[in-house]
This record gives sequence, C-alpha cells and structure tokens, in this order.
Amino acid sequence: MSSGTALLGPAIARLRAAGVPDPARDARRLLAHALGVAPERLTLVLPEPVGLEAAAAFGDLIAARAARRPVSHLVGTRAFFGRDFTVSGDVLDPRPETETLIAAALELDWHSVLDLGTGSGAILLTLLAERPGATGLGIDVSGPALAVAARNRAQLGLDARAALRPGDWLDGVTGCFDLIVCNPPYIPETDYAALEPEPRLWEPRLALTPGGDGLAVYRDLAPKLGQTLSPGGTVLFEVGAGQAAAVAGMLRAAGFPKVGCCADLDGRDRVVCATLAPENR
Ligand SMILES: C[S@@+](CC[C@H](N)C(=O)[O-])C[C@H]1O[C@@H](n2cnc3c(N)ncnc32)[C@H](O)[C@@H]1O
Repeated sequence: MSSGTALLGPAIARLRAAGVPDPARDARRLLAHALGVAPERLTLVLPEPVGLEAAAAFGDLIAARAARRPVSHLVGTRAFFGRDFTVSGDVLDPRPETETLIAAALELDWHSVLDLGTGSGAILLTLLAERPGATGLGIDVSGPALAVAARNRAQLGLDARAALRPGDWLDGVTGCFDLIVCNPPYIPETDYAALEPEPRLWEPRLALTPGGDGLAVYRDLAPKLGQTLSPGGTVLFEVGAGQAAAVAGMLRAAGFPKVGCCADLDGRDRVVCATLAPENR
C-alpha cells in the first residue's frame, strides 16, 4: 500500500499534463475527499498507508479532474459566503464574485426578496440565512436546477421562508418584493467558445450565455421590474466584464431614478443597483 504522499506526486503530474490550473491544490483536495478527512487535516495523514479502496477512488477522481470536471462536482459541494452548497452539473457553481451582490444586498433594508434564475439557490438562500425573518421566492426555468436548490434549502433549514418555482423570468410572478436579485446568463456568444473547459463542458450552457451580446436578459427584464418591486425597492443585477454601463443605462431608461454600481474585489463593476422612488407608493 502506498502512502498518501506517494500517491500525490503522480496525481499532480497527471493534472498538470491535463492543463489543470492549480494541480497540487486540486490533488490534495481530492485525496482528502477519497480518504474522508477534512482538507485541513490532510497533512497529518499523508505519511500513512492508503487502503486499496481509497486509492482506487482517488485514481477515479484524478481521472475525472484530468477530464476537467470541476472539483466541486467531484466532492459535491462548493463554498459560498461561508456556507457549503450542494452543486452538480445541473447548476452554475456559485462564484466568489457573486458575493459582491450578497454584500450589497445586506447593506439594504428589505424583508422580501425575489431571485430570478436561482440555480443552486446560492443567492436566495444566503440572503435568507443572513436575514432572519425575511422571506423569498426563487425562480428558474430549469427543473433539475430547482431540485438542487430545494436540497440546499432543506440543508440550510430554510423550507419555511424560501419558495422555489419553475418559470421563465418574471412570467407569472405576482405581488411585490422589496428586493429583486438576478445573476442572469450574460456571457456573449463569442466569448463562450473561449471559456475554460470546466464551465464549457460541465456547467449548463443555459446558465452561462443567452447568446448574442450577452445583454438579452437585462434588456428584457429592465422595463418589467418596476411592476414587481415595492415602492423604494431595489434591484441588484450581477453583470459581466464591461457590461455595467449598458445595464445601468437600461435601468435609467426604464425609469429608475437612482442607479449605481458596486465593484468586486478586483475593482471591476460587478453589480448594478437600481432603486425605485418611495413616492411611487
Ligand atoms: C448565471 S446562473 C445563476 C445561478 C445562481 N443564481 C448563482 O448566482 O449562482 C443563471 C440561472 O438562470 C437560469 N435561467 C436561464 N434562463 C432562464 C429563464 N428563461 N427563466 C428563468 N431562469 C432562467 C439558469 O437555469 C441558471 O440557473
């Protein structure tokens, strides 16, 4: 039987040869998963012999990662805003840049939230977990994605406060919400083909690109959002690189008096924020 240390070397070399960006980090994470130990405990058990079953499982995980399957799909979860979310090939992996939207939302005063294109439920469920007593609705056109969101909802104990419904953006949504959040597919068609293999091969295309210039969902939703927002309510859109000015312009043209942007940790405008006047009441 080989030790964990002995298994790691060839695994890292295989991932490197497959073009995986951080082969050592991923090999260690997958070895921890195969051994059933917490990643932060891996160093302690590396000198120990690895059983045949765990070694075979690790080999399978490395083969899958070499085929550029995301680590999150192999271990089954992805961390987002301090919580672990179940993920699969049916949903977009929650991205660190989407935490900018969460931070912006938590600065605001709201009690009800509508999440358009909820996917894994990462945005909706994080917001509700962070805001005790608030309620929300998540909409997605993908039934398999909603099944993942329902699992995350149960894991986070939010069944009583989060509703999930199939739908095409705002179609059939009634009532008004204090906050609308939306991270739509926004990658332009021409950029999609140049994506890394992990999203291109293993995440739903529907979650990544609407085709064309990437702005179709914003164009469609901007004029309709006011009808579903409470007076003084806010909409927060995540946007792709270079899209903030165009999306802000659409929201101004739709009659939002107050429109601004929030930058992500790299300093790029990542969230467009538009607020209705309170006197629309
Ligand atoms: C970029 S992903 C965002 C997922 C999740 N909200 C997040 O931030 O991690 C976009 C989501 O929009 C959903 N979607 C695509 N077209 C839709 C439509 N016509 N109506 C509702 N949701 C749609 C996709 O299924 C996907 O879950």
